Amino acid sequence: MSLPFARPDIGDDEVEAVVECMKSGWLTSGSKVQEFEAKFAAFTGAKHAIAVSSATVGALLILDALGIGLGDEVIVPAMTFSGPAMMAHRLGANVVLADCLPGSHQLDPADVARKITPRTKVVMPTHFAGEACDLEALQSLCATHGVLLIDDAAHALPTVDKSGDRVGSGASSLATFFSFYATKTLTTGDGGMITTNEDWLAERIRPLRSHGMSRPVFDRYSRLGASWQYDIELHDAEAARRSHALWRSALGQPAPVRTRLPQGRGVQHGVLRQRRHPAGSDHAARRHAAGADP
Ligand SMILES: Cc1ncc(COP(=O)(O)O)c(C=O)c1O
Repeated sequence: MSLPFARPDIGDDEVEAVVECMKSGWLTSGSKVQEFEAKFAAFTGAKHAIAVSSATVGALLILDALGIGLGDEVIVPAMTFSGPAMMAHRLGANVVLADCLPGSHQLDPADVARKITPRTKVVMPTHFAGEACDLEALQSLCATHGVLLIDDAAHALPTVDKSGDRVGSGASSLATFFSFYATKTLTTGDGGMITTNEDWLAERIRPLRSHGMSRPVFDRYSRLGASWQYDIELHDAEAARRSHALWRSALGQPAPVRTRLPQGRGVQHGVLRQRRHPAGSDHAARRHAAGADP
């Protein structure tokens, strides 16, 4: 007998959605990702849902945003996937293993209590195999010791914890990360999501996923007055206003008419259009200027 590694349930709707996306020409994070984030936040009940490329990256961004680094200790279950623990290690923290409960796959709060030291900064349990770990007990333990609680929900979509809250709602932990890897209950091939109720944490995490940029590229290019073109034109308009004033005061003459870029054309395309390459030649700059005159 052979068991498939994963058997995703992909129907016509999914295929059509992907084709629609490819035809739109918008291939990086855009309106679809924003829509997915909004739906995910509504589903879990969390205030913020932040899409990332995997659960492992989700763990990395949360730990990084919390300033976890050299000499800090992060407690993880002895039985879980290694990726998130490796991210703590990668940031310079010491990974401390705590036991799981006999007869269950979940982190044992009593063993976590034994492992907490003054250097412990984070406890990072996993909701193993679709069951919730004892978040309530871990939350009260963390509160007592001033330790942060973030949970690995790679297996827990959807899962409800002992208090009846959906895992990822932010009711019992500071932040949660999910996986959309091929074998998960909801898959995007590779992908992940962070949820949190904390505005300050979401504000730190969002730029970390995009080279430190505070506004996603979709917002910069799709919202009126928010694009790079707008910024440039604003400076251009200001320069024109000043030169008009100078012209008038210095020469006592009417100023020349200023030409404007055509509506909707990016300034960067205007620059690229000036670069010509011989007919029939193939050049990365020509390809890069897709949408501009060849
Ligand atoms: C418990 C657990 N956490 C994290 C991950 C990592 O997920 P990803 O592949 O999205 O980084 C996995 C992957 O299987 C997992 O099982």
